[in-house]
Amino acid sequence: MTAHDRRVALVSGATSGIGLAVARSLAAQGHAVFIGARTAENVTATVARLREEGLEVDGIALDVRSNESVRAFVHAALARYGAIDVLVNNAGRSGGGVTADITDELWFDVIDTNLHSVFRMTREVLTTGGMRQKSRGRIINIASTAGKQGVVLGAPYSASKHGVVGFTKALGNELAPTGITVNAVCPGYVETPMAQRVRAGYAAAYETSEDAILAKFQAKIPLGRYATPEEVAGLVGYLASDLAASITSQALNVCGGLGNF
Ligand SMILES: NC(=O)c1ccc[n+]([C@@H]2O[C@H](COP(=O)([O-])OP(=O)(O)OC[C@H]3O[C@@H](n4cnc5c(N)ncnc54)[C@H](OP(=O)(O)O)[C@@H]3O)[C@@H](O)[C@H]2O)c1
Repeated sequence: MTAHDRRVALVSGATSGIGLAVARSLAAQGHAVFIGARTAENVTATVARLREEGLEVDGIALDVRSNESVRAFVHAALARYGAIDVLVNNAGRSGGGVTADITDELWFDVIDTNLHSVFRMTREVLTTGGMRQKSRGRIINIASTAGKQGVVLGAPYSASKHGVVGFTKALGNELAPTGITVNAVCPGYVETPMAQRVRAGYAAAYETSEDAILAKFQAKIPLGRYATPEEVAGLVGYLASDLAASITSQALNVCGGLGNF
């Protein structure tokens, strides 16, 4: 594949966990991948690490909560690699607690980071990023099984991810005639730094150990274990491929059977 016909993919939150695995696998599939996350030094280090693996990756700092940052990010990607073929909205945060005690600050930040960000990034990629002019495109939103079922002590998170699933279904139907597909990937429990923070949060809330929380969570998963970031990235890579052209407006689980709808 020449540089000219190499497809361009954007991945938000690609310095850790699922986003890192997605960036690596899309690049290994032959995409030029432009990555972003808030911590600039982690973006630089991740770009260097993936380039050492022989992959075509670049990136800059990105805060998906800011229209200006999102615009600058998409402009930079366009200047570096050309019009965008694949957008993976992966950046996100956990957050919750006893709902009656949740502050405005926490509620709005979880919704902004996980839901408004998906609209912001998508709009910018369709317009500035040039996807709207293409006859083929892929928008893949990393939601969660918490976007299909309620999670105790996770009301803002569950609300944000249900919103991502709804946005995905509506935009998928809207864009179906254009050749741009829009899907959500819904991980259950995936072993990442976020998963470790979530276990620590529940251990504190229930006054127990993180190991006890891990055992409790694993017992809920029919497969008996967390998924790996690479297993989530595998589905993202498939959805980005030509063969997935007829899959749109879907919310697909990667969860070891935790959710089965
Ligand atoms: N792990 C799970 O069990 C699980 C399950 C279901 C769904 N998910 C979803 O999967 C996605 C990735 O989760 P993960 O477990 O891989 O998390 P992670 O290990 O905490 O990684 C999160 C990534 O997002 C970046 N990020 C956070 N806030 C950002 C912002 N405002 N702007 C730009 N980048 C931001 C982080 O870098 P900076 O902090 O430097 O910005 C980091 O690169 C999230 O949407 C999460 O909700 C995860």
